[in-house]
Amino acid sequence: MSEKKLWWRDGIIYQVYPRSFQDTTGDGIGDLRGIIQHLDYLKDLGIDGIWLSPINPSPDVDFGYDVSDYNAIDPKFGTLSDFYELLEQAHKRDIRIIMDLVLNHTSDQHQWFQESRKSKDNPYHDWYIWRDPAPGGKAPNNWTSMVGGSAWKYDASLGQYYYHMFFEQQPDVNWRNPQVYAAMLDVFRFWLEKGVDGFRLDIFNEYFKDEQFRDNPTRRGLHLRAFDRTSHVYDNSQPEMLSLLNDIRKLMDCYEDRYVVGETFLVNSQKARAYIGKDRLHAGFDYAYANSGFSARAFGKAIQDWDSLHGREAWPNYFLNNHDTSRSSTRYNAGQSDARLKLLATMHLTVRGTPYLYYGEEIGMRDINLTYKEIQDPVGKTFWPLYKGRDGCRSPMQWDAQPNAGFSTGSPWLRVNTDYPIRNVVNQQASSASLLAFYKALIQLRREHPALHKGTLEMHASGSDRLLAYWRAWNNEKLLVVLNFSNLLTTMPLPGDPSQKWTIIFNGNEPITSQVAEGKLHLPGYGLAILRVNTE
Ligand code: GLC
Repeated sequence: MSEKKLWWRDGIIYQVYPRSFQDTTGDGIGDLRGIIQHLDYLKDLGIDGIWLSPINPSPDVDFGYDVSDYNAIDPKFGTLSDFYELLEQAHKRDIRIIMDLVLNHTSDQHQWFQESRKSKDNPYHDWYIWRDPAPGGKAPNNWTSMVGGSAWKYDASLGQYYYHMFFEQQPDVNWRNPQVYAAMLDVFRFWLEKGVDGFRLDIFNEYFKDEQFRDNPTRRGLHLRAFDRTSHVYDNSQPEMLSLLNDIRKLMDCYEDRYVVGETFLVNSQKARAYIGKDRLHAGFDYAYANSGFSARAFGKAIQDWDSLHGREAWPNYFLNNHDTSRSSTRYNAGQSDARLKLLATMHLTVRGTPYLYYGEEIGMRDINLTYKEIQDPVGKTFWPLYKGRDGCRSPMQWDAQPNAGFSTGSPWLRVNTDYPIRNVVNQQASSASLLAFYKALIQLRREHPALHKGTLEMHASGSDRLLAYWRAWNNEKLLVVLNFSNLLTTMPLPGDPSQKWTIIFNGNEPITSQVAEGKLHLPGYGLAILRVNTE
């Protein structure tokens, strides 16, 4: 790994879900000017890059993840000149901008699809995955959609089916068509030329499907969702992906200091790792860490696995939250206390890898609980009450105690969490014991210590449910991070000579803090410590 500072490796990336960050027009939907308005806040927090969930025009069947024009900005978020200003203002503050590219499928309103469905001899017909019916008029094969039912939608006027992994309004494009391939690479070029610093590729390993459209094999066992009753062998992760990633990377490398990170879909960590490398993606997302239970053992294993899969040649990244997942505050039953969240933040910001934060994580926003009528996410509407969808983690950012948490003067597209008069940025800025103050202090510490942002990682203790401890080292600096995942006082013998003197350089879970005594570290419930051995 290069010694030179790399923003995406040494820094922290913050995901903004633009609909929910800050509305400046009063239409109840966040916008680009709203993000510009809060750049100083983000700078002060200490982040290095912003990943924007999609801002391209979209009919919002899947809230931006159904794009109808790749080369424009959705008017509900602003204009291209607002976007230029966001880039400029962010760059002035040394903050990079990462765009979300949703290239597996488009919206059915995209002009390409509108043309494609006109006739079989339309030049765009083959830009999507059209197949003749199987005998008896049935769907071409057994492939299922992630959101329920067959993945094939019959179009009576053409007498053919088209394929959609998600909703029928999100037809998958045909990446095997060279014109599609070229058009998609042009999308990268278009935004790179505008000065965008990186991309997050939405479910990129879904782009290619089996050329022969073979049936997926049946999976044994009882599975509630039809989608889980087959193994997704032929509709996912085809070998063609690797050479495409190579082409994408070559293109990215024509520009300076750019970054591409991918969201893998339906694969395990080993497969996700295979997409990362010098001639592939810079980094990839994997869910094992975010899916861990709240225990030292579970997190220790997820970190150890993901870290060793990367080895020295690649750089891991970690997220606890995103726009598809219940917030960690809710998942891990933090209740109203932020002690568990401070513990998680310490782990998240000190493991070897790029930490991703999701808006509001730094103030411990909780999921909102919605009634059926309030649900916006189509996935929630489809699977209610078994699964309420993803709105819970998408509620408006809680800025202050003003109406709608300062998010909008209009009527927010999604309800604000009722806890906002207490849990908001302004309130937490005023308290040195707040979660926000904790994040800021920790981010600053991470910045000051190369061992924490670019050092190696070595597990020290991860075998129990309570204690997770690991070393981070860079040149002569060696730091020990110790985290108590239980609510009980816990003691850990410190390694080495018992007469060694240790300094705790970070000890944040106030008011009761960890202490070193007689060669042991004593941690209160959910206590933590970052220590080093005194050399003089
Ligand atoms: C990704 C996105 C998710 C979206 C899906 C389909 O998983 O993160 O929000 O619904 O792709 O585009």
